[in-house]
Amino acid sequence: MTLFDKDRAYLWHPYTQMQDYAERDPLLVDRAQGLLLYDSQGKTYFDTISSWWCILHGHNHPTIKARIHAQLDRLEQVLLAGLTHEPAILLAEQLIALTPAKLKKVFYSDNGSTACEVAVKMSLQYWRHRGRPERSGLVAVERGYHGDTIGTMSLGGVPEFHQAFASLLFKSHRIPSPYCYRCPMLREPQSCELACLAPLRVLLEHEGERIAAVIIEPLIQAAGGMIVYPTAYLQKVSELTRQFGVHLILDEVATGFGRTGRMFALEHAGIEPDFLCLSKGLTAGFLPMAATLASEEIYLAFYADYRQNRTFYHGHTFTGNPLAAAAGLGSLQVFAEEQTLGRLPATVAYLHERMARFLDLPWVGDLRQLGLISALELVRDRPTKAPFGFVERVGWRIYLAGLEKGLILRPLGNIVYLWLPLSVTIAEIDEITERMWLVLSDPKNIYGH
Ligand SMILES: Cc1ncc(COP(=O)(O)O)c(C=O)c1O
Repeated sequence: MTLFDKDRAYLWHPYTQMQDYAERDPLLVDRAQGLLLYDSQGKTYFDTISSWWCILHGHNHPTIKARIHAQLDRLEQVLLAGLTHEPAILLAEQLIALTPAKLKKVFYSDNGSTACEVAVKMSLQYWRHRGRPERSGLVAVERGYHGDTIGTMSLGGVPEFHQAFASLLFKSHRIPSPYCYRCPMLREPQSCELACLAPLRVLLEHEGERIAAVIIEPLIQAAGGMIVYPTAYLQKVSELTRQFGVHLILDEVATGFGRTGRMFALEHAGIEPDFLCLSKGLTAGFLPMAATLASEEIYLAFYADYRQNRTFYHGHTFTGNPLAAAAGLGSLQVFAEEQTLGRLPATVAYLHERMARFLDLPWVGDLRQLGLISALELVRDRPTKAPFGFVERVGWRIYLAGLEKGLILRPLGNIVYLWLPLSVTIAEIDEITERMWLVLSDPKNIYGH
């Protein structure tokens, strides 16, 4: 049996229609270096989506590897309940130093979904401890995505992913997506005055006393369609939550650690949330880890004599895993040593300029860019913005054409995007955007003929 036969025999891949691989082999990645993935024949592919948005400094970075190796010789895993260890402590210290002053405590878990669930559970328990158990409502945004667990699906706004599980999901409030290209309020961005926020104000005015928290992805709704939205919207959400005494949970699982051009997306808006959810780039993509940062006010509501039963009863086996924490420390070391953030403005400006030409293609309806994220929304008809249908599978054709050109493009439906590692060079941007042009300018790859 070849590896491919065994893959078919034993593996079930995520977000994958397995029948697509009945006759076509998946790409077997043998090794990786920098932005490049190597298959078993030595052919290379640019990892333009940072391996599901987590690789930061390129694959196989020696500094991070060395930190993991060194940690491996000391302590590979230990529970974090009642015990502690150096990497978890030092990483928490650095995360607190890097994030807004309001955030004072780090609670670890192991993926982005749990980072968000932890914030939601803490918020609800906080209100109980403060004698306000009726504050249990949660508000999320249409087209938002916070993960695939039942809790985070309940707060999701992407029906394509979660409708099959509707019967499992708890009720929560939804506000319109700030999807300017397809404005849910049918307004124009120049004159809309953020009309899409009116429903949040109305909700908080009427039900604010029964709301625990608002959860939102700052500046870009990523999995929901790479919807980049105005900073003013985020600032207003923050203001409204403060005005009505509701917690603000920022889900920076995707945007954290430089991807938007700043260390955290919240910096663009100058806001301070009550909770900050981090994962993906936390370990520069080397190992699974997540962190939920909380304010002192939240923490103190749990801090009491044990007989008061205020403990936060939540934890995962690999909470604060030492190897992952060492990877996180290694990543922050790279940020410092390589001046990663200082190099970003030039790289980001260059990428944005290179992507502008894609608007010349008649099937590109919108170009949305934020930091090293650049997304194109493909449309069947530009004047009416009519989308390609689900069965047309434009994204799949582009994925296959991308592979032929040595690119990992993994469109989200009709949204083709780059989500580049922070280490990308100007020469690599040239190469990637040139190959992407070859893929997207060919009508065969769009229409199938
Ligand atoms: C904003 C956001 N939150 C949460 C998650 C869930 O993270 P994970 O897949 O690690 O559970 C994702 C994953 O893409 C995400 O983009």
